[in-house]
Amino acid sequence: MSPKRTPDFYSKLRTQEKNYAGQYNMSFSYKNNILHAEDIALPALAQKVQTPCYVYSSERIQHNYQILSRTCQEHLPGPAPLIAYACKANASLAVLTTLARLGCGADIVSGGEMKRALAAGIPSEKIVFSGVGKSESEIEMALFHQIAQINIESAAEMDMIAETARRHKQFVPVSFRLNPDVDAKTHDHTNTGKKESKFGISAELIEKLYQKALSDPYLEPKGISMHIGSQLTTLEPFASAFEVLAEFVTRLKDKGLDIETLDIGGGVGLPYSDESLFALPDYISLIRKTISPLKARLILEPGRSLTGDSGILLSRVLYSKKAGAKNYLIVDAGMTDFMRPSLYDALHPVYPVETDNSQTSKKTGENMIFDVVGPVCETADVLAKNVSLPSESTRPGALIAFMMTGAYGAVMASTYNARPLPAEVMVHRDKAEEIRPQLTVDDLLRLEKIPSWLENQAVMR
Ligand code: LLP
Repeated sequence: MSPKRTPDFYSKLRTQEKNYAGQYNMSFSYKNNILHAEDIALPALAQKVQTPCYVYSSERIQHNYQILSRTCQEHLPGPAPLIAYACKANASLAVLTTLARLGCGADIVSGGEMKRALAAGIPSEKIVFSGVGKSESEIEMALFHQIAQINIESAAEMDMIAETARRHKQFVPVSFRLNPDVDAKTHDHTNTGKKESKFGISAELIEKLYQKALSDPYLEPKGISMHIGSQLTTLEPFASAFEVLAEFVTRLKDKGLDIETLDIGGGVGLPYSDESLFALPDYISLIRKTISPLKARLILEPGRSLTGDSGILLSRVLYSKKAGAKNYLIVDAGMTDFMRPSLYDALHPVYPVETDNSQTSKKTGENMIFDVVGPVCETADVLAKNVSLPSESTRPGALIAFMMTGAYGAVMASTYNARPLPAEVMVHRDKAEEIRPQLTVDDLLRLEKIPSWLENQAVMR
């Protein structure tokens, strides 16, 4: 919940039974004062699955994909673009399979993501491979599976791809990632289109590399790709970058180069707090105006916008404590389960799962302001600041939900402090299934080994 929301907010939810973000997302909503994922009451779910756990709504993923594909259909001329979901946002097999069934492709950044995408049934001809550091074995894997294209990020990488393709006598479709030198005006950690960024290649160098690739027996240059950053909340940086891209592509075409594909990356943000955001049709209209006239096959790489609001992190209150003027709510989820607040100062809505606990505890009706923190031994282990929560939902054992955590949530979890990786659950209407159990420390200990010199009991000297 954003700090700006008033205590009165919950009472509105109670009477209207509306969803949490002003009718934005019906897949998570209060029914009889209890937060549900689709038709599943979260308290009942938390009795079966250990918290903290991620809960995804398949309906919401489907909705997000279909809205995007329909908006493209309505606004863009020519063949339908390839929607290549950026797997890094949430590469769970169940999430990828849900998207695969809808006809979605994949943008991958590692051999691991390629394996996941293929295992989910995403056809290789719908897979594009991004990232600055593809290893030789990952390139071999891409060649073996004949994926749609490899997005080249440097001259050295192109040499490695060409050499690997030659060795395997295999043609390889490639695209060149343009660095447009545009500030995405997003968090520094997710800003990727500025000149000094490690991502992409300058326009001048791409021109040379494109020519070189054309004369290579195995490289098949297909087009240009670009991704300027993530969690963009205004259209201006996209407009600037698309303009740079369009001018560049026009120049290449004027020189007689054939540009078949244009991959314009992802980056569309989500309204995590009360910030306003451009509407999807405006983004697509911008593409129509700037990119469509170039008459190339369009590739989109949305990540967050497809899965971000399809997931929540369910957590239980352990304790509360006071420190000076501050109230801390200590919950069983920590920065190891959900990194975004610590890493990017991200603000995610926090919701009580039960807004009226009159049967289980004395209801006071009062709200208190808390910093919600986890058990990890780091001062940075803060999941939300200045959250106003009804006091009955902050007693030990109460459940709370960190909303809009379906993207860059579970995928970024770690086992720091020897903590387990959180379980993941997917909901479909009135069905809820664990799609990955909690990965426990026992699971990890099974993979670890004591070196031979420590096997006997002797003290080392
Ligand atoms: N394409 C490429 C080449 C990318 O690097 C990314 C994200 C995407 C597409 C998808 O972007 P999206 O539509 O999700 O914005 N961990 C950070 C986000 C890192 C994004 C990295 N690249 C966070 O939690 O905000």
